[in-house]
Amino acid sequence: MKNVALITGASTGIGRELAIIHAKSQGDLVLVARRKHLLDSLADDLREKYKISILVKEMDLAKIESGTRLAEELIKENIHIQYLFNNAGFGGYGEFIERNISQDLSMIQLNVCCLVELTHAIAKQMTQNGGGMILNTASTAGFIPGPLQATYFATKAFVVSFSQALDQELRKKGVTVTALCPGPVQTEFIDVAGMSKSKLFEGAKTASYTAKKGYNAMLKKKLICISDPPFYFLINYLMWLVPRRTILRIIEKLQRIN
Ligand SMILES: NC(=O)c1ccc[n+]([C@@H]2O[C@H](COP(=O)([O-])OP(=O)(O)OC[C@H]3O[C@@H](n4cnc5c(N)ncnc54)[C@H](OP(=O)(O)O)[C@@H]3O)[C@@H](O)[C@H]2O)c1
Repeated sequence: MKNVALITGASTGIGRELAIIHAKSQGDLVLVARRKHLLDSLADDLREKYKISILVKEMDLAKIESGTRLAEELIKENIHIQYLFNNAGFGGYGEFIERNISQDLSMIQLNVCCLVELTHAIAKQMTQNGGGMILNTASTAGFIPGPLQATYFATKAFVVSFSQALDQELRKKGVTVTALCPGPVQTEFIDVAGMSKSKLFEGAKTASYTAKKGYNAMLKKKLICISDPPFYFLINYLMWLVPRRTILRIIEKLQRIN
C-alpha cells in the first residue's frame, strides 16, 4: 500500500468524506468503524473508481485499548501510515448528573483515549519513516465549556490542546498535526447526540464541505482549522470580549431543547 491514510469513523459523515478526498488523490486507505457493511460498500465504490488499495477494519474504538490494538495490527500487517485521521467521535445531550455515566465514559474512551493511543503509536512510526500528517477532528466546542454537553465539549477541548502541543513537538521531526474544528455539521452526529430537535443545527454545513476544509488545512500544515467562518470570528475575536458566565449562559440557552 502507498500514501496510506488511516481514517477512524469512516462509515459516515466527515470521515466518509475524508476517505473520498484521499481516494481521489490516489492514496490508499485503512477505513475503521463498527458498521462493516457501510465501510465495505464505500471501499468497493472507491476501489472501482480510483483503483486504490483499501483495508476495512470493523472495530469498536470505544473499547479500552482498542487504539493500541489497532496500531499493533497495522504494524504486524506491515502497513505504514502516512496520514492519520483521528475522526471517530460522538456527543451526548443532557444535564451531566442525569446522564448515564457509562455513555460519558465511552465518549471519553473514543474521543480522547483512542485518539491518544493511535497518535502515540502511529506518530512514532511516522517520525521513523521520514514524516507524516495528522488531522484530528476536534470541534468549535473545544474552545468553550458546554453546559448540557459538558463531557463532549471537554473531550474536544482536550483534542484542541493536545493537537497543538504535539504539532510543536513533532514538526521538527517531519510530522504535522492539525485540529479540524467544525461548527454544526449535518451528519448522524445530531441524532446520536440526541439533538435532532435542536435549533443549533439549522444552517449546519455539509460533511463534504467540512472534510474538504480540514483536508486542505492539513496539507497546508495549519495548526487549527475553524471550518465555519462565523465561528472563526466568534472564537478568535468576539469571545474574548464577553464575561465567562455570560458565555456559559448563552451556550446553555442555545443548546437547551425544551
Ligand atoms: N456533526 C457535527 O456537528 C460535528 C461538529 C464538530 C465536530 N464533530 C466531530 O466530527 C467527528 C465525526 O462526526 P460526524 O459529524 O461525521 O458524525 P457521524 O456521521 O455520526 O460519524 C461518526 C463516525 O464515528 C464512528 N464511530 C462512532 N462510535 C464509534 C466506535 N465506538 N467505534 C468506532 N467508530 C465509531 C461512526 O461509525 P460507526 O457508527 O459505524 O461505528 C461514524 O463513522 C466526530 O469526532 C465529531 O465529534 C461533529
